[in-house]
Amino acid sequence: MKKSLVIGANGQIGSDLVFGLANRLGAENVIASDIREGNHGEVQFEILDILDAEKLKQIIEKNNVGTVYLLAALLSATAEQNPMFAWKLNMEGLFNVLDLAKYKIIDKVFWPSSIAVFGPTTPRDNTPQTTVMEPTTVYGISKQAGERWCEYYHNKYGVDVRSIRYPGLISYKAEPGGGTTDYAVAIYYKALQEGKYECYLQNDTYLPMMYMEDAIKATIDLMYADEDKIKIRSSYNLAGISFSPVEIAEEIKKHIPDFSISYTPDFRQAIANSWPKSIDDSRAQEDWGWKEKYDLTSMTEEMLKGLKEKLK
Ligand code: NAD
Ligand code: SER
Repeated sequence: MKKSLVIGANGQIGSDLVFGLANRLGAENVIASDIREGNHGEVQFEILDILDAEKLKQIIEKNNVGTVYLLAALLSATAEQNPMFAWKLNMEGLFNVLDLAKYKIIDKVFWPSSIAVFGPTTPRDNTPQTTVMEPTTVYGISKQAGERWCEYYHNKYGVDVRSIRYPGLISYKAEPGGGTTDYAVAIYYKALQEGKYECYLQNDTYLPMMYMEDAIKATIDLMYADEDKIKIRSSYNLAGISFSPVEIAEEIKKHIPDFSISYTPDFRQAIANSWPKSIDDSRAQEDWGWKEKYDLTSMTEEMLKGLKEKLK
């Protein structure tokens, strides 16, 4: 069996995706890689800077890799601090992987897009798959350009590239890496550690979110769906839960009655205001059978249980 390589494996998604792939394929068929040292149990680990195209090719050829999951990127908030580097990393990294697929050195690519491809002129409720897309962040611009390039490589060179526009992802295994939706993870840590949280978004800021277990299932379902089912080669809308800071705080209070939240919006408020409040993912449902499992109540139970164990 050809192996699967996860690039950016130490991050929020990679930490769970490597585990999910190892469960499905066997640890011996998965390779984790990152620019930083990492530990993924029985899974082989390689240090790799995605901007080093030669080393990427060497790792792939030496290890008989067939599928690449490219997760290395700068996220929305961090990218705003260093826009030109964010553009370089997010785009060159993608080209390095797409070109290996173009020359048939690998067979299949997963590349994540984001709700950040949408902008202030997009309809914000139940945002459709195909609509106005005028992103205002460098992160959103890089994701939108990436989507166009994925579709181009598929149409022009037959590359089997698959993608999801992830909403904000919520998990406890690894901390998030600098996104606008990170508050919805930090709030659980602070609730358990301090009983209070100062939120950088306003109380009524609705954003599309998803529990990580659902996101990993969606990723693996998409990658193992029959090729003829994949009708969209830019990126699929994917919906989970939509909630505001005040709603997640109310849910936490059911478990920690003294928990309190305050609001001090910063630059991330403008980013959140430019993104959808909820997503229409009917194409993912129709094409490859997507259905989420977690709602705000069940996600909160899992987050608090998992974090209590982690923070012991
Ligand atoms: P993250 O920041 O948690 O992890 C990124 C990982 O990439 C880190 O471990 C980092 O060390 C590594 N990395 C950075 N530069 C690298 C380089 N040059 N070479 C190799 N590795 C490098 O990010 P994440 O949340 O896991 O996101 C992964 C992907 O999913 C990104 O493309 C992101 O845009 C996308 N995404 C994430 C979310 C979310 O809510 N987490 C939502 C939508 C889309
Ligand atoms: N969670 C991501 C971010 O906030 C969305 O792509 O940047």
